Amino acid sequence: MRTIGVAMNGVTGRMGYRQHLVRSVLAINEQGGLALSDGTRVRLEPILVGRNEAKLAGVAARHGLTDYTTDLEAALERADVYFDAQVTQARVKAVLTAIDAGKHVYAEKPTAESVEEAVALARAATARGVKNGVVQDKLFLPGLLKLKRLIDGGFFGRILSVRGEFGYWVFEGDWQEAQRPSWNYRAEDGGGIILDMFPHWHYVLENLFGRIKSVYAKGVTHIPTRHDEQGNAYPATADDAAYGIFELEGGVIAQINSSWAVRVNRDELVEFQVDGTHGSAVAGLRTCRIQHRATTPKPVWNPDLPATARFRDGWQEVPDNAEFDNGFKIQWELFLRHVLEDAPFPYDFAAGARGVQLAELGLRSSAEGRRMAVESL
Ligand SMILES: NC(=O)c1ccc[n+]([C@@H]2O[C@H](COP(=O)([O-])OP(=O)(O)OC[C@H]3O[C@@H](n4cnc5c(N)ncnc54)[C@H](O)[C@@H]3O)[C@@H](O)[C@H]2O)c1
Repeated sequence: MRTIGVAMNGVTGRMGYRQHLVRSVLAINEQGGLALSDGTRVRLEPILVGRNEAKLAGVAARHGLTDYTTDLEAALERADVYFDAQVTQARVKAVLTAIDAGKHVYAEKPTAESVEEAVALARAATARGVKNGVVQDKLFLPGLLKLKRLIDGGFFGRILSVRGEFGYWVFEGDWQEAQRPSWNYRAEDGGGIILDMFPHWHYVLENLFGRIKSVYAKGVTHIPTRHDEQGNAYPATADDAAYGIFELEGGVIAQINSSWAVRVNRDELVEFQVDGTHGSAVAGLRTCRIQHRATTPKPVWNPDLPATARFRDGWQEVPDNAEFDNGFKIQWELFLRHVLEDAPFPYDFAAGARGVQLAELGLRSSAEGRRMAVESL
């Protein structure tokens, strides 16, 4: 049994605490550590880093941890790996400090607020010779793993289009508390749904369907005033909905709506419908339903008659055929194997920068009202 130190910044936040500390790092230890290919097991020693010592002490106490500090550089001295799930705006400075200290770096998306900074991070990590990775959790969701299985098995024939629907109602914070942090709704604090979600759509589309050639997006602020954690009204300066069209290499057209101002009339909070010449699928976070060309009904347009066919009944559930672990944990294990035994890990800072590039082009497309080509970085 070996031990490695993992400095974790942002563990008092939603993602840092629940998905990364509890569901990934501590869960890996609970299963007896990470098993390497030579049979050794590796235990992770979390070093909690943050701005507020009392909050860190609270998190540490809840999980029987003892190592926490507000001093990033001191934490890095004891760490092999640095992980960052801070608010996006705080990421670049802290990650660069970790790279300078020669630590391997793993970070939430987006890796930066601009392409320039995201590329600088990727270059700095390469120059310093440290392993680097960005969170691309959606790829490891059961629903998307089933979708990948369908693609690899040739189920679709020629894929024509992808339509994605993401979102839910985020309360304004006055008569009901908002369920997301207020910085997400302020552009000056690194918020906005395009910067938040387009990096996800980037790796989902590129890993499953092909390189993105162009983007057209319309970002909107539907709810102009929200109330923050203290109950104070503030102007929402960031986009809270984005309507995007992406043209992919090979001719697939993807259209994805992202919104925090939509009420859910779907089975899941995100769903992708994929239509191909031989079959179609609708994948969510966990489930995936399909309809083959041979079982496709023949609807005839006639508004004079009530619809009698129950269209949703004509779809079939894709079986699990496997046990699905938490997606964040799967990716942590892949990254740690990359660090410890040089296993392949394609989700690096260069991939992170391409995600930021798509967000930046989406924002420009919206501001200028035109389609933007996505050039190779
Ligand atoms: N992979 C995903 O599915 C996913 C989902 C949500 C958020 N995220 C990303 O994770 C990051 C954190 O998001 P979150 O929703 O957990 O946010 P959060 O507000 O809940 O947590 C933010 C964390 O950053 C810390 N922080 C450091 N500097 C700060 C500052 N100046 N102001 C405020 N907080 C500061 C906070 O203390 C806290 O620990 C973001 O970059 C976001 O894009 C990823």
